[in-house]
Amino acid sequence: MTPDADILRRADAWIAPYWNADHLRRTPDWLRVLAPRTSTAMLLAALTHDIERHFPAPDAPTFDARRGPADPDYRRRHAERSARIVGDWLRGQGVDEQLVHDTTALITVHEDGGWPEADLLQAADSLSFLEVNVDRFLARIPTRQNGLGPDEVRAQFRHMLDRIRVPAARELAHPLYEAVARVDACEGDPRHRRRPNLRGTPVIIEERFTIAAPVADVWAFFLDVPRSSACMPGVDDVEPVDDQGQNYRGRIQVKVGPLKARLRDGGRARRGAAAGAPRPRRPRH
Ligand SMILES: [Fe+2]
Ligand SMILES: [Fe+2]
Repeated sequence: MTPDADILRRADAWIAPYWNADHLRRTPDWLRVLAPRTSTAMLLAALTHDIERHFPAPDAPTFDARRGPADPDYRRRHAERSARIVGDWLRGQGVDEQLVHDTTALITVHEDGGWPEADLLQAADSLSFLEVNVDRFLARIPTRQNGLGPDEVRAQFRHMLDRIRVPAARELAHPLYEAVARVDACEGDPRHRRRPNLRGTPVIIEERFTIAAPVADVWAFFLDVPRSSACMPGVDDVEPVDDQGQNYRGRIQVKVGPLKARLRDGGRARRGAAAGAPRPRRPRH
């Protein structure tokens, strides 16, 4: 194995535990598509350019999409911190100082480009982002993690496309960018909606079924709380505690996993106003 292949292999093992290693690994793949005879410094920069996100620390910049997809302060601090961490790691591997210099110089500008090699790295980063990160960003929408709502995710994808300066890369990026349509789709998908805070709101269970009995008989059964409560799992010994038949007491047994709780005379049921009469049906024409 050549020294260049060896350091690339060691770098690949180093970034492997990173939660978004897939994005890092696909970046040199795209780079090879754009520039088949690229340098070791370029491949190392592509493979490690975001690695600072794997090392949380007080000096790590915080990404907040509400500051806009191009947030120059965040991107500069992110790129410089990655370059510093990769430079320290490369020196620890005993590689040539020129390789350290060339690699870290590229990582420092990987968000912005600026010269032909840097533009290629930036383009490969965008292609890998659009290919790998769509689902990761969609998954953050329900919790607004990093300030990412649907509009911010769309802006993020658009920025990663618009910043590409290499014409061949722009052509490759367009089909990948079409994945942004999934943001629109997921807005209608309950799995991606913002979860409401339900604390303090009633639980409403709606179910429809047909009972082969007259309406009056069914309502009479529901209004006979001791009888109807016999249908409720864990509820028994229900009896009225007033003459109006509005309040009842009984026993409730609740089982959750290995835990079982029995509330003797502690449960109290109250007939609601809505239970007084069946809802009138709208006539069908
Ligand atoms: Fe980055
Ligand atoms: Fe990246």
